[in-house]
Amino acid sequence: MNIEQAKVICRVPEQQKLALDLNMQGWLKYLSEDQFLEEKLELFKILELDKRKNQKILDIGAGLGHFGSISKHHGHSYLGTYFGRTDRELRPFYQDAGLDLTECKLFPNYDKTIPEGPWDCIIMIRTTFELNAEWTVDDWKELVDNCMKNLNPGGQLLIKSNLSVERRSKYGKLETQCQDIMLTAFSEKSPLPYWQWATWHWIKE
Ligand SMILES: C[S@@+](CC[C@H](N)C(=O)[O-])C[C@H]1O[C@@H](n2cnc3c(N)ncnc32)[C@H](O)[C@@H]1O
Repeated sequence: MNIEQAKVICRVPEQQKLALDLNMQGWLKYLSEDQFLEEKLELFKILELDKRKNQKILDIGAGLGHFGSISKHHGHSYLGTYFGRTDRELRPFYQDAGLDLTECKLFPNYDKTIPEGPWDCIIMIRTTFELNAEWTVDDWKELVDNCMKNLNPGGQLLIKSNLSVERRSKYGKLETQCQDIMLTAFSEKSPLPYWQWATWHWIKE
């Protein structure tokens, strides 16, 4: 699938109109900049979701759900999650795309409950909640453990952070601090080498 096909499948022109009608300027960049859809197509290939069949996919912090439209096109089932007030903003896009959406809130010091699986694939793509120095090493380990417990054998977990590998810091010291915590939590794993943003991939035995 190329980017132009992905735009049709994700109903980008229709969703641009929807975003304007709903006065949702904040989400327009996801509909006008190719990089966000390109990223999803690349992740889709890394996870081999273009080759696997009938996958049950959970997308935590799913934004407009474009990963879901690509998944649905390939015959997979998909659940996207939102957090807080984004429900009101995001639900019309999920209705437009025929995708399911539910709430999931992940915070340091709170239980890290995710929608119950078992899932074949859990993704978290630049969810932004990692930019919070209150996340401890134990919080991250707990979240990853919960996700792994909710995966079928052979299932995959992918976390793509907002934290730049090259440490070209967008957010100052906070970014380095948060990345150090994640690197310590996942010290047995290196971030995937081909991304500018720190990204980890687990496969359940
Ligand atoms: C920048 S958007 C990324 C959207 C999508 N993953 C993408 O790549 O297009 C961040 C998403 O993370 C979710 N989010 C932010 N903070 C969260 C939290 N503490 N717990 C769960 N989800 C959160 C938001 O609801 C939003 O859908």
